[in-house]
Amino acid sequence: MGATDSQAHLYEELDKYIDSFPNKRGILIAVLHKAQEIFGYLPQELQQHVARKLEIAASRVFGVVTFYSFLKTEPRGQFCVNVCLGTACFVRGSENILHEFEKDLGIKSGQTTEDGQFSLDAIRCVGACGLAPVVMVNDQVYGRVQVEDVKNIVEEQMAKVR
Ligand code: FES
Repeated sequence: MGATDSQAHLYEELDKYIDSFPNKRGILIAVLHKAQEIFGYLPQELQQHVARKLEIAASRVFGVVTFYSFLKTEPRGQFCVNVCLGTACFVRGSENILHEFEKDLGIKSGQTTEDGQFSLDAIRCVGACGLAPVVMVNDQVYGRVQVEDVKNIVEEQMAKVR
């Protein structure tokens, strides 16, 4: 398995989840979601583990992981900033908000800051269109965000680790 001791219980948790399905067919995406929830991202050894458990080719797992942008192969930051680019948010200027985060954090969408604090991603509709444009930082929802709010959002999050 190649897991360190500290990860052994995480693999156990994942295996328990996989074993809870009576049939292993058609559960790959659900399993990858769960794996990402448990580990935070999907490194190669974890993808191989999933392939072995589901008795499918590792290349198939890899193909699915690279196809879906919500599945991540790199560690994410402590604060995951998700800017909604769904239609309602887009027409209210969320692309400019995404660019402002890129400028403020010094990273591109899809990247993580070097200190591991922030990750930035564009996402599709999160179902809060009435609050468009919407930004989520981990589980926290910011509604009707303006470009000028970006700095404050970053500072508010950073204050949590001070
Ligand atoms: S389009 Fe952004 S929340 Fe629906």
